[in-house]
Amino acid sequence: MLLRILLCFFCCSFGAAGTPILGGADAEHRKFNHQASLQEITTNNEHFCGGSIISSIWILTAAHCVDCERIRNDIKRIRIVVGVTHLSENGDKYLVRSSKLHEKWNKENISNDIALLKTAKNIKFSSAVQPVILATHDPPDGVITTLTGWGFTSDDEGLVSNTLQVAYFEKISLKECRKQFNDAQYPGRLVIETNICITQPVAKGQCNGDSGGPLMYNGTQIGIVSFGGQCGEGVPGVMTNIAKFLKWIKDKTNISQLKQLSKIYLRLSLNSSITLTKIPQTAI
Ligand SMILES: *[C@@H]1O[C@H](CO)[C@@H](O)[C@H](O)[C@H]1NC(C)=O
Ligand SMILES: *[C@@H]1O[C@H](CO)[C@@H](O)[C@H](O)[C@H]1NC(C)=O
Ligand SMILES: *[C@@H]1O[C@H](CO)[C@@H](O)[C@H](O)[C@H]1NC(C)=O
Ligand SMILES: *[C@@H]1O[C@H](CO)[C@@H](O)[C@H](O)[C@H]1NC(C)=O
Repeated sequence: MLLRILLCFFCCSFGAAGTPILGGADAEHRKFNHQASLQEITTNNEHFCGGSIISSIWILTAAHCVDCERIRNDIKRIRIVVGVTHLSENGDKYLVRSSKLHEKWNKENISNDIALLKTAKNIKFSSAVQPVILATHDPPDGVITTLTGWGFTSDDEGLVSNTLQVAYFEKISLKECRKQFNDAQYPGRLVIETNICITQPVAKGQCNGDSGGPLMYNGTQIGIVSFGGQCGEGVPGVMTNIAKFLKWIKDKTNISQLKQLSKIYLRLSLNSSITLTKIPQTAI
């Protein structure tokens, strides 16, 4: 059983394989209400990647999370669970209608590691389930960012965490990141302009199962967990830079004012479960 789960990780989230959060802390209950868990129905609903809710029908994740033959051939193997802090809770579950991987996603050099999953039904918003606001600009280097995930909390055990973990890391420049993350040691793991890097001290940082999850700063999602070194190795964590893919996201989801729309959902859904379809056109 364990072997099968591990194979799944290496197949569908290899970036994370080389890359829970080790050294994180339990997340406050329902605080990260935009966080989604991607689970594979056929392997005992095993959590394999993170994601974030960006609208009432779209989940944002990493391309490497959905790019294995098994899942590409049958996207209905994935279920999305939202509204939970503990994986053992009975959250809201959605099947996937379709997926969009970035057309230029390249697994050899891990570029354009971004994908969208369209849910089969509208996501019901509540205090425990909310869309995230996507960043429109890069925050400056040196700021402290927030990473959440249910990934491995120990490299040895190979088990996902039941409780969502949260940890804080400093954003560093791409130049600094490339220096620490050199090609000789990590061939094929290119740090490019469309990435964001965060420092990760030894024994702390993203691990298997955190991939596809959100990196936050000042209430907005700035990154998607893409890759790193070995878990806890002390090399930076590398993210897909949201601001660099906003146009792609807007084109694919056909939501023209994603950020503003999210704010509208947020306002309208604080005390109810109004979904996008119920918002009058004039409100948008
Ligand atoms: C990654 O590989 C693809 C295909 O070989 C290439 O087109 C692309 O330019 C490469 N990206 C980078 C950043 O090197
Ligand atoms: C944080 O977000 C608020 C809006 O929510 C904005 O007014 C403020 O300038 C942002 N701060 C930084 C440091 O980005
Ligand atoms: C996007 O929205 C526009 C205007 O609402 C519509 O004409 C167009 O067909 C939509 N495109 C897709 C791909 O859904
Ligand atoms: C939501 O409802 C609670 C209790 O009914 C109320 O105290 C609170 O002000 C409401 N919040 C908003 C944003 O309307």
